[in-house]
Amino acid sequence: MEPEKKKIVLLPGDGIGPEITRVAVRVLQSCAAEFGHKFQFAEFPFGGSAIDQAGEPLPAETLAACRAADAILLAAIGGPKWDAQPPAKRPESGLLALRKALGLYINLRPIDVREPLRSLSPLRADRVTDIHIDFVRELAGDIYFGEHRTETGADGERATDVAVYTAVEVERVAKYAFARAETRKGRLASVDKANVLATSQVWRKTVTRMAADHPNVKVEHLYVDNAAMQLVLAPAQFDVILTSNMFGDILSDLGAALAGSIGLIPSMSIGPGPSLYEPIHGSAPTLAGKDVANPVGMILSAAMMLRESFGLEREADWIEAALDRLFANGIRTPDVVEPGTTRVGCAEFGERLCAEMTATRHHSQRADQGA
Ligand code: IPM
Ligand code: MG
Repeated sequence: MEPEKKKIVLLPGDGIGPEITRVAVRVLQSCAAEFGHKFQFAEFPFGGSAIDQAGEPLPAETLAACRAADAILLAAIGGPKWDAQPPAKRPESGLLALRKALGLYINLRPIDVREPLRSLSPLRADRVTDIHIDFVRELAGDIYFGEHRTETGADGERATDVAVYTAVEVERVAKYAFARAETRKGRLASVDKANVLATSQVWRKTVTRMAADHPNVKVEHLYVDNAAMQLVLAPAQFDVILTSNMFGDILSDLGAALAGSIGLIPSMSIGPGPSLYEPIHGSAPTLAGKDVANPVGMILSAAMMLRESFGLEREADWIEAALDRLFANGIRTPDVVEPGTTRVGCAEFGERLCAEMTATRHHSQRADQGA
């Protein structure tokens, strides 16, 4: 049987992006070799490096390649070099433009405490049990995409950012969150600021209306300030958390810290076309080029791509299981090193992971699929 050929667009971006991309590609190549798949990688400029090369953060050629891809793997963008640019010429505006152009309105950010890394959590030990939270963040609306304006008047500068949500925009992302909760523990926490914001009132009304059609999902509504507190005090109460774009950005970083490092968390962005996978961390300019970055968020994003876009569940499980064994064996990048563990660089972590993966080949399973 002709193996499937999947077109994967790589957007390494800036800072530590290229280093962690190299590791993810190595892992995917090992997977392809092991299971007999064909992945075709094509790399395109994006973010600050695209500004340097092409004068804009999202060149037309990059967007066209993304549209034609089976999946997109993005590392990270941004850095001090471009901070002085006007907003439209900043790397971040390329990321927002890409999300918008591809209609990526759902962003899934799973926060899982990995057993061998439990002691990295800043929480007291008794609170770090059973933390498995799926953040479903709305990604195409809110204050991110309303008008941003700065004027100078008699009183000096005045700035405005407009937040907009339609019931339809809330409903389509909530639909995904309800479905996700149905396949998990059946609990959905919807986060808003309905005691102050009009957008949140539309949000809460829409989610409440939908709850009536999902009797098997237990829905609760939390104000965002309380949600932040509850995440720290009793994170195990959460299953799926549904948030607006802005609140999801903030709370998912908090969630990542609970799991031990922001370097560990992957994400998937979904719309009508190809999905985009990216770690939730930034480009970490101060770590770039030193071979100290943690590639795990990127590797888990690649595993998520295999599972969710290509239906390669077994392959994703294989990578994740090897990763947990590597952690259990004490192999760690500097951000997650603990007493008694072995500190390795980004590239070596990748090599060791590939060795761990191939050391546990499942020949019987390979025979199953005729590889
Ligand atoms: C994220 C990032 C982005 C966001 C930035 C880089 C624009 O923080 O994906 O969480 O705010 O969405
Ligand atoms: Mg963020």
